[in-house]
Amino acid sequence: DKQKTWSGRFAEPVAELVKRYTASISFDHRLAEFDIQGSLAHAQMLARAGLLSEKELDAITAGMSQIRDDIRAGRFEWSLDLEDVHMNIEKRLTDLIGEAGKRLHTGRSRNDQVATDIRLWLRAAIDDIDGLLRELQTSLLDLAEANVDTVMPGFTHLQVAQPITFGHHLLAYVEMLWRDVERMRDCRRRVNRLPLGAAALAGTSYPIDRAFVAERLGFEAVCENSLDAVSDRDFAIEFSAAAALIMTHLSRLSEELILWMNPRFGFIDIADRYCTGSSIMPQKKNPDVPELVRGKTGRVNGHLVALLTLMKAQPLAYNKDNQEDKEPLFDTVDTVVNTLRVVADMMRGVVVKPEAMRRAVKQGYATATDLADYLVKRGLPFRDAHEAVALAVRYAVDAHKDLSELSLVELKSFSSLIAEDVFSVLTPEGSLAARDHIGGTAPVQVRAAIGRARARIA
Ligand code: ARG
Repeated sequence: DKQKTWSGRFAEPVAELVKRYTASISFDHRLAEFDIQGSLAHAQMLARAGLLSEKELDAITAGMSQIRDDIRAGRFEWSLDLEDVHMNIEKRLTDLIGEAGKRLHTGRSRNDQVATDIRLWLRAAIDDIDGLLRELQTSLLDLAEANVDTVMPGFTHLQVAQPITFGHHLLAYVEMLWRDVERMRDCRRRVNRLPLGAAALAGTSYPIDRAFVAERLGFEAVCENSLDAVSDRDFAIEFSAAAALIMTHLSRLSEELILWMNPRFGFIDIADRYCTGSSIMPQKKNPDVPELVRGKTGRVNGHLVALLTLMKAQPLAYNKDNQEDKEPLFDTVDTVVNTLRVVADMMRGVVVKPEAMRRAVKQGYATATDLADYLVKRGLPFRDAHEAVALAVRYAVDAHKDLSELSLVELKSFSSLIAEDVFSVLTPEGSLAARDHIGGTAPVQVRAAIGRARARIA
């Protein structure tokens, strides 16, 4: 009973140490639902080809349904001796229904079986991630909508650059996340191909119908080459690359939240339920969640490198190396899924502090470019305007004043082109309203962009 399915060829049983070293059941049991799904489609095809009787197909279907129930209920006993999810399920099926169970593996190998399972599993994960990405976008859009005209400083070099709206800033992340959705959808097309039929590596001598199996399993097409079908893991690598980019985006957002929450910025507060305290410093409120998002980005990046390295020198076709694809892939999906959930909810608990944002705009001479543009519109070449305004800023810094707090006389001393109407461009609102084109930070544009983004993700 404890014998390996392939033990006939061997003179002694496999060493205990090796059994543990080579087994994948501790992690690949996660593929069980998809393994069953794939086996059922394969069995239906075998029956149509006359390789299984209708009675045998019925027995397999009933047996698999019981196995599925047992797994879902946590009653299924996974055995290390049976190495992996495929053999555990097949052995149980045979215990349950006898002879017909032993016929299931006709025209199939674990090599094309496992490749099929991972693709089915990953396809479902991609669909989950697609939904979660759009949920996060919605939570960012809600926050952006409430802040279409909330003035904040935009930064370059992390120094105050020009006024923007908080809504506009958040929309930058919505764009990043939309590219993530597109990348996931594009990757899905290449995931969604059927390896079954490749058998071990060369195809099979039975009269199989791969198109039928592909259709049953919702695959767009079959893998065209049997060697490639069992040895390709490109789809897992490109998924991981897309996942690493998602994490990179969330990590950048997290870094900003951490900065903004620092009292020196004081732009936002994060809901208490998303922060933690210190065991020694009673005053502390720490942004642990965004910090962990930033940290977990490292492990997802690491998994991408692990998968690339796993594949880089593998000769065709299947090698046992490939068993190492699962843990990085599983952990990548778990990390991305959990992170997307947490960040979407955290964003709903962000409290915005508009006065602090506005104060930072004022302190940073954020409308200096607007003053230069004002002079250009009155005929001064941009380089000369830049110089005149630079001198004005230096003067204002020494006088501890914002540009808008200088008198008309003071301002005129830097250019005779400056007139009474200058003050309207020196306010943050004037600066925002002037950037009135698609992609600009003017509140009307931000509102329109929110509308377009909502329509896109619906
Ligand atoms: N557990 C194996 C894996 O994950 C299944 C395929 C095993 N195939 C083989 N020829 N040993 O790749």
